[in-house]
Amino acid sequence: MNKNFTYILAALFFLTACSKKSSSNGDMSSFIDTLLSQMTIEEKIGQTVLYTSGYDIITGPTVDPNYQEYLKKGMVGGIFNAVGADYTRRLQKMAVEETRLGIPLIFGYDVIHGQRTIFPIPLAESCSWDLDAIERSARIAAIEATAEGVNWIYAPMVDVSRDPRWGRVAEGAGEDSYWGSLVAAARVKGFQGDNLSDENTVVACVKHYAGYGASMAGRDYNTVDMSLNELWNTHLPPFKAALDAGSASIMTSFNDLNGIPATGNSYLLKDILVDMWKFQGMVVTDYTSINEMIQHGYAKDEKHSAEIAMNAGVHMDMQGGVYMNYIKELLAEGKVKEADITHAARKVLETKYKLGLFEDPYRYCNAERERTEVFTQEHKEAARDMARKSMVLLKNKNQTLPLKKGQKVGLIGPLAKDKYEILGCWSAMGERDTIPVSVYEGLVEAIGINQILYAKGCDIQSDDRKGFAEAIRVAKQSDVVVMVMGEFHNMSGENNARTNLSLPGLQLDLIKELKKTGKPLVLVMYNGRPLTINWEKENVDAILEAWFPGTMGGAAVADILTGAYNPSGKLTMTFPQTVGQIPLFYNHKNTGRPYDPSNPELAYGAKYWDVSNQPLFPFGYGLSYTQFKYSDIKLSSDIMTKNTPIKISVKLTNTGDYDGEEVVQLYTRDLVGSVTRPVKELKKYEKVFLKKGESKIVEFELTVDDLRFYNHKLEYVYEEGEFIAFVGTNSTTQMKSKFDVK
Ligand code: NOJ
Repeated sequence: MNKNFTYILAALFFLTACSKKSSSNGDMSSFIDTLLSQMTIEEKIGQTVLYTSGYDIITGPTVDPNYQEYLKKGMVGGIFNAVGADYTRRLQKMAVEETRLGIPLIFGYDVIHGQRTIFPIPLAESCSWDLDAIERSARIAAIEATAEGVNWIYAPMVDVSRDPRWGRVAEGAGEDSYWGSLVAAARVKGFQGDNLSDENTVVACVKHYAGYGASMAGRDYNTVDMSLNELWNTHLPPFKAALDAGSASIMTSFNDLNGIPATGNSYLLKDILVDMWKFQGMVVTDYTSINEMIQHGYAKDEKHSAEIAMNAGVHMDMQGGVYMNYIKELLAEGKVKEADITHAARKVLETKYKLGLFEDPYRYCNAERERTEVFTQEHKEAARDMARKSMVLLKNKNQTLPLKKGQKVGLIGPLAKDKYEILGCWSAMGERDTIPVSVYEGLVEAIGINQILYAKGCDIQSDDRKGFAEAIRVAKQSDVVVMVMGEFHNMSGENNARTNLSLPGLQLDLIKELKKTGKPLVLVMYNGRPLTINWEKENVDAILEAWFPGTMGGAAVADILTGAYNPSGKLTMTFPQTVGQIPLFYNHKNTGRPYDPSNPELAYGAKYWDVSNQPLFPFGYGLSYTQFKYSDIKLSSDIMTKNTPIKISVKLTNTGDYDGEEVVQLYTRDLVGSVTRPVKELKKYEKVFLKKGESKIVEFELTVDDLRFYNHKLEYVYEEGEFIAFVGTNSTTQMKSKFDVK
């Protein structure tokens, strides 16, 4: 062992001798102070440098010879895209044994919805309205990631987005910032657990800060220009929630925000993050986003971009190499301060300390855990459960679903046997092709191979109609047709925007042909965003939105198709009728001329010539095999004050033939504000299980704090006045009652 690392360990053992765990802040700062006092400026800069390992998924782990050199010189603080207990151990060994001070590396990776056991895409998970399940999914992701050497996860992605053209909506929790905040906190808790230095917890990295979800026209990396009022009320809350839940790091976004790239934006990184929110953790850039300030037209060259980022409060440079190359020079020129470099290094070192890496740099490189804790039966069951909960039943005419016993099923479509697309975007370590359960396999397991006829019919995207005839033949021989169709997994995720949101290729043409057979049609969709499925909605009998459901997706689809599981998911993102309506979201403002379809006299209302303002499917929408009736909305009082909350209750009855779950939603409208307020805002929800025939009074407590918003001075206030409370099954509910805040 390198003698300096021995020194670090000795110092650590000394400092922690009295306190059993090395986790108190006092211990940490004395330890880091001691360490920093030993470090040269080059070594401090080294801590701010993060490089990808050059891990090649096809040919296996490789270490770029350059990084190896930098690493050995102590010029690299962290590596990302390095996976595997042995591989990360090898890299860690270089840092610990071959650098002067032996400071361990931190290993980052994009574990967005699972490491090996892939869970549904985050947008799907958010449709479960089940925070425990979401936290559990993150917990399992952390267990598997740490078993493979990763200790820093680039998630949760909390960008609120109202634009389904943007491929990254697949990675978030939809369009609502209240719900997005709850999901963000649940994910952070799942990733980080109770103690960051446990061997199976990771540092979370909430991203992409900030405004990225509003990339203009849904095109990735695009400009963002928005009012501060919109930024604070809509886009920042999930970040705050993730940080309040303890996220120990945050990633800057690629976009420029109101003219200043987020990575060089001291309003975001200093004024808000540090001064107002008192964030103590580490700020990392997105991939080369420091350098990209040149293309933004904000930095004149790389050196200038490094100066801007350091002065704005960025602690770690992901892959840009500009901190490594220019910070020392900038220091000599007086353009950056030594104190800021030391501070940046401190933040990185603190993160490593919290992970327990100074106690044991190899804590996360455990080949035994890699063998036993990855892809376990328990993880697979959790993934299946999460997938079932994430799926949304969009239509079920004449109770086409669940399938009836003995029905011959014609299983058709390019995704029916798929074991590749099913994992969705950002699932690099999830083994495709072999392990995932396809819908075909799931159904065979559930109803037996003799009940199933199969035809692919067409590709996801091609002009080839050769498979149509066989698909039609299969449909004719079946009692019911189940079509599994959708997008390629890489039509969503980073840099995967679309302008046409219909089913790609000839899939709709095939559905139209199958419709002519007169057989009941069920459409199961894999997709990473809301799609404009108008014809399908009109003409197909049942539609199950399965998103990209992950490793166990096909088994979960079969659970729902057969009725073994009664669907309970609800949309967290509006489905538009057409791309022309985008952005379309439930909590919009009213405008001065709101269009009222029941009053056609109002010629100059905010509307389109050719399409109504209605969504295809609204936020909060989703069906069950059973039916729920809402009645008796009651308020405990029609006056709320600072000290007297009100209770809003509603009676929910399961009037259908199945036991089932309903997500009861409470929205409010603030009728007059010092700034204009949305027509509805989600405030509370409860997921309720009722046996058939059963009723329950669901009660929500609402306080003035639930009614707060940022006013034009960006003060977080509630205002007195008249409000409406709405309760119901989705965001279009009109079951309401008024109250006043005094
Ligand atoms: C770019 C993406 O925007 C970000 O989400 C990701 O974490 C980094 N690359 C690292 O892969």
